[in-house]
Order: sequence, then structure tokens, then C-alpha cells
Amino acid sequence: MMGTSLVELGIDLAALAHNYRELRRRCDPQVRFLAVVKADAYGHGLLAAARKLAEAGVDYLGVGSLEEGLALRQAGITLPVLLLAGILPGEAEAAVAADLEVMLFRRDVAESLAAAARTQGKRARVHLKVDTGMGRLGVLPQEALEFLAGLREHRELEILGLCSHLAVAELEDKTYTLKQLRDFTDLLAAARGQGWALPLSHIANSAALWELKEAHLGLVRPGIMLYGSPPAPHRPPPVALKPVMSLRSQVLQMKRVPPGSSISYGCTYITQDWCDLAVIPVGYCHGYSRLLSNRGEMLIKGHRVPIRGRVCMNLTMVEVTGIPDVRAGEPVTLLGPDGNKRISAEELADWAQTISYEIYCALGSANPRHYTGA
Ligand SMILES: Cc1ncc(COP(=O)(O)O)c(C=O)c1O
Repeated sequence: MMGTSLVELGIDLAALAHNYRELRRRCDPQVRFLAVVKADAYGHGLLAAARKLAEAGVDYLGVGSLEEGLALRQAGITLPVLLLAGILPGEAEAAVAADLEVMLFRRDVAESLAAAARTQGKRARVHLKVDTGMGRLGVLPQEALEFLAGLREHRELEILGLCSHLAVAELEDKTYTLKQLRDFTDLLAAARGQGWALPLSHIANSAALWELKEAHLGLVRPGIMLYGSPPAPHRPPPVALKPVMSLRSQVLQMKRVPPGSSISYGCTYITQDWCDLAVIPVGYCHGYSRLLSNRGEMLIKGHRVPIRGRVCMNLTMVEVTGIPDVRAGEPVTLLGPDGNKRISAEELADWAQTISYEIYCALGSANPRHYTGA
């Protein structure tokens, strides 16, 4: 368990590799596997996650910014890397120099990439991003062929494929997703009809990898399932995923307060009876959302214990009445297992009215990580 630190964010890299292998097994062998490690690997630590996934056998990595791509290269990672949010024109030289592939949706970026590639005597690899219904980045399907035609003049660009992103692939009702997929594959067929090879076209996130094999195409692009969470929180996938992140702390102070005592800022919780309270040195400065106030639970001695009152900046109170021998220094689990009980990121997300993705990013960016299973 923990040593002297008050808050410990655990990252189990063996679980990450396990999740990769489980997902890989669900894809045909010729399908390439891009692990999405953007946003510091969803808070799990970019370099540690990328190294483990590279060692486990992923074909590609996907990051959110040039900075993240360069960090991978500086760490000696030589796998193909795709910049999922594209680049700015001023970033083209660095992207080409570092052999980073770019999601492309702006003509000025195409020009900058071509110019950088010319200067450096290289080709710049791009994936044309098409917006088939996510309503986010990408050219519209009806503009894509013209956009592609405009790229013919840039011999320095290697157009590896078309790509798109799914908006609701995690829903059981796949109507919208299938429409997105159909529009994408129709466009792909039309582009190929015009002589574009586009060997690496892709649209599948975790949910589509799991439930929509026809969306795998040339490459799959999962993120959340690698980190052990189902994309649809109330519909766990039939894949034995292992949670990668955990958050643990210890009781800072124990106290017994009489009936009618008010707990924490705002006096939002008043005790009915004598109450054993444990003060935990974790709060919203650690990415532990204030929305967990009077809603969330933690695990102490294998028991679920409720948060009483508001989550503070660096402290939170839980009620441990009836649990024998809870003392200062007692281990506390805020995310992860304790005995046969477990608090999942999905549960935290439910209490905090968000999604597991945000829980991971918030906890991961606010706390020093302790890696196991490297
Ligand atoms: C472009 C792109 N592809 C793939 C993913 C992975 O999605 P998921 O984590 O749902 O598997 C993301 C994540 O949001 C993304 O932005």
C-alpha cells in the first residue's frame, strides 16, 4: 500500500497491455491498430503508456498535439504517430522533420506541409479528415473529392487515407453510426474510383471496434477501452478489460461528532446521530470533482463509505460509523478495488455527472503517477 504520500495515483501498465491484447484479438490480423494516447494518454502518462503499448505491439499511436508527437519522438519512439487534431501551418516543418502524420482538413496546412516536405527532401504523410456527422473537425463529404483533387498538385504529400469520427457509436441503436459509416465508405469508394488508393482509411473508435466489425476498415483507433472502461457505461462489453488507473489515500484525522453537527463548507450535511467521520486529504485540487459532494463514496476496510458535506479543495469527509477500528493512516480507495469491492471510473463519472474519460483526465493531470507492471 502507500508509503508516506497522501494521495497516490496508480497506473497498472500490465493492465494496459492486457486490454490492448483483448482488443487486438477482436480485429482481423490485417487491421492496423492505432492506440489513442492523446491528452497524456487520457491522464495515464503519455510516455509510459506509449512505451508499454509499443512493446505490446500496437502499430500506430494517436496524439492530440504536435507537442505530444514530438515528446514521443524525443523519447525514442519510432512507431507511426498520427496528430489527431491536425496542426497549424506554422507547425508543418517540425511535424515533417519528426515524421509525424497529420490529420488534414485545411488547405493552408496542406500547402505548409508540402513546402516543408519539399525543403526537407521528404514526403509528408496525411490522412484527410472528413466530417460524416460528428460535427467537429473535417471537410464535409460533399467537399472531400474537390479537396482531394486540390492535393494532386502537392506531389510531396502522401495521402494515406480518409478518416472520420463517430458521434454515438456506443449506443445500442446503431442507425446514426451506420449512416456515418455508409457515407464514409461511399466517399471512399468514390475517391478510389478517381484513382486514390487510400490504403489506411479509418473511422472506428473503441465502441465501433467492439460492436461494429464492418467499421474496422484498414485501421482501428480505440482509446477508452485501452484504459479499461467501456464506452457505454451501462453496457459493459464482453471483453475482459482491466482498470488501469487507481487513486488511493489515507485517513488524515478520525473524529466522532454529536448529532446536529454540520460538516464542511455550506453546512450542507447535518448529522442525525453520533457520527464517526474520517477526513481524507483529497479534494478538487486533485481532480476529485466537487460534484461528488454528498454523493460519492470511497472504500475503507473493504466497506463503501459515503461522502458527507462538500468536497473541499484538498480535503473530503466520509462517514465510517459502524466500521470498527478505523484509525488515522487507514488506507482509503477512491478509485479501484479494495477487497471484493471496487469503485469504477464509471461510478465516479455517474456521481459527478460526466464520463469516465473526464475522470481519468482530471485525476491523471492533477496527481503524481506511480507505475507498476512496466
Ligand atoms: C479522432 C479520435 N479518434 C479516436 C478516439 C478514441 O475514442 P474512444 O476513446 O471512444 O475509443 C478519439 C477520442 O476521443 C478521437 O478524438
